[in-house]
Amino acid sequence: MYKLIKKQGNARRGEFQTVHGTVQTPAFMNVGTSAAIKGGISSYDLKDLKCQVELCNTYHLHLRPGDDVIRDLGGLHKFMGWDRPILTDSGGFQVFSLSSLRKIEEEGVYFQSHIDGRRIFMGPEESMRIQSNLASTIAMAFDECIENPSTREYTARSIARTVRWLERCKKEMQRLNSLPETINKNQLLFGINQGSTFEDLRIEHMKQIADLDLDGYAIGGLAVGETAEEMYHIIEAVEPYMPVDKIRYLMGVGTPVNILEAVARGVDLFDCVMPSRNARHGHIFTWDGVINLINAKYQRDDRPIDEHCDCPVCRQHSRAYIRHLLKAGEMLGMRLAVMHNLYFYNTLMERIREALDNDTFDEFYQKYVPILGRRI
Ligand code: GUN
Ligand code: ZN
Repeated sequence: MYKLIKKQGNARRGEFQTVHGTVQTPAFMNVGTSAAIKGGISSYDLKDLKCQVELCNTYHLHLRPGDDVIRDLGGLHKFMGWDRPILTDSGGFQVFSLSSLRKIEEEGVYFQSHIDGRRIFMGPEESMRIQSNLASTIAMAFDECIENPSTREYTARSIARTVRWLERCKKEMQRLNSLPETINKNQLLFGINQGSTFEDLRIEHMKQIADLDLDGYAIGGLAVGETAEEMYHIIEAVEPYMPVDKIRYLMGVGTPVNILEAVARGVDLFDCVMPSRNARHGHIFTWDGVINLINAKYQRDDRPIDEHCDCPVCRQHSRAYIRHLLKAGEMLGMRLAVMHNLYFYNTLMERIREALDNDTFDEFYQKYVPILGRRI
């Protein structure tokens, strides 16, 4: 259940209550695709890094180790040793981005596994059953993330099908949540808005899915090649049609500036591989801008990677040391860099929440949009 605590402009400060605890919003979900954050970050590390929600992927866990295995072991929370909320993405996006030989039909998608080439079918019911086996806190609806660019005709047909898929997801989720053997009988369902870059189709789709009275609403199909300005424009267009009393999630976004811009437009929840993926290549987010630790100028730099950061890494280690580890291909280098970046993202969200609490979000936004985007 989402509770709106406060608004400044369109930016919202809220709380999202789940059976696995309350999430303070705006919040960033830390991406652990295959039930692990890449870079060797454990569940107990995540607590030190201020992570509130972890995100895992239906597609990956279905292929390996198998959602039946995770169900038999008591669900994803027990499997990973993580007791806070978990959101599982539906497989919709990964089927389209990772698998080959896809064939989309009314009933669902036929595809080949990117791991072993196995032929697999996934539709709304399969996605809901897998997510119910995983017993995540929040299940995402099975959707088609439309390629960008796409024609208006294709987009219109696709979103109509995504609405029918969503109705099937809701029905199947209600059935699964009422079965005695279901691990999480309070599993929540979020719908996903699609419509490519066609503003009127986005709005029409948002109105249709809002009528289904789901537990939350996501905006999908963004950060797939359109410009940041186009993305902000689409958020502005659909936001007035998103239910005020439901949490709003922008999928797969983004940079710290993208997040600030989206919070300012009324979004509550985010996820992105950027902090962990970029860290592994030495791209570090700091309160002064983005640095590349591989740069030779850091070879003898004994300052912490971010002088304004109090994460476990910045309290203990120098730029020179972490740079050395990354260049030497030491596992520890990646781990420390990922830890800092995740702490940075989670702290960014905490500071956004504090600014909203203190009615200083405008000042925070004005100050940090130019700083967080620059490369130093
Ligand atoms: N992750 C990022 N974008 C999307 C999307 O459009 N759909 C789904 N299911 N996941 C996403
Ligand atoms: Zn740090």
